[in-house]
Amino acid sequence: MKFFIDTANLDQIREAQQLGVLDGVTTNPSLMAKEGITGRNNILKHYVDICEIVDGDVSAEVIATDFENIVKEGEELAELHEQIVVKVPMIEDGVKALKYFSDKGIRTNCTLIFSAGQALLAAKAGATYVSPFIGRLDDVSTDGLNLIAEIRHIYDNYAFETQILAASIRHTMHVLECAKIGADVMTGGLSSITGLLKHPLTDIGLEKFLADYKKGNQ
Ligand code: E4P
Repeated sequence: MKFFIDTANLDQIREAQQLGVLDGVTTNPSLMAKEGITGRNNILKHYVDICEIVDGDVSAEVIATDFENIVKEGEELAELHEQIVVKVPMIEDGVKALKYFSDKGIRTNCTLIFSAGQALLAAKAGATYVSPFIGRLDDVSTDGLNLIAEIRHIYDNYAFETQILAASIRHTMHVLECAKIGADVMTGGLSSITGLLKHPLTDIGLEKFLADYKKGNQ
C-alpha cells in the first residue's frame, strides 16, 4: 500500500518524507487556500516546491470545469514537473479529459468519487488513480469503506490498472481497513500515518527494557 499525505503544508510534507514511508502527496484547492497559496504563479511554484521535497507522485487539481480548459490547465500542470499527476473532477467534461490525458500519456487522478459507478467510468476513461472520499461518505451515514470494497471487486473482475487511492481518510482505522480491503494507496493527514506507530505496550515495554539494561550496566 502506498502512503500519500493529503496536505499542501510543506513542513508536514517534509516531516512525512523524513519518516521514510511517504510515496506521494495529494492537494486540492481547499488545502492550497488553507496554506494561503493564492495567485496562479504562486500556486504553480508551490506544486514544484512539493515535488522537490517528496520522492513520488504529487496530485495537482484543475480549477476548470469545461473540457477545453481542463485540458489546457492540465497540460500546464503536467509540464511543471514529471511527478505531477493531474487531478480532474468526476464530471462529464472531466471524464472526456481523463480519456484525452490517458491517450497523451499524462497521468491523472479522478477526484470526488462517491460511487462505484463513477469509479468504473473513470477506469474506462483511463484514469491512473481514482479518489473515493471515504470520510465524507461516513459523514453522511454511508459506509465509505464499503465503497472501497466495491471498487476493488470491480477493478479485479476486469483487471483495470487504475489504482484505488482511498481519500478523505480521517484516522488510522480507515488506513488499516483500506489496507485489508486492498486499496492501492491511502491519502490522509500526517496523524493518520504517525498514529500507526503508537501503542502503549510498546512504550511500557521499551521503558522496562531500558530500565533493566540500566540496572545491569551501572
Ligand atoms: C483527496 O484527494 C482530497 O484532497 C481529500 O482526501 C479530501 O479529504 P477531506 O474530506 O478530509 O477534505
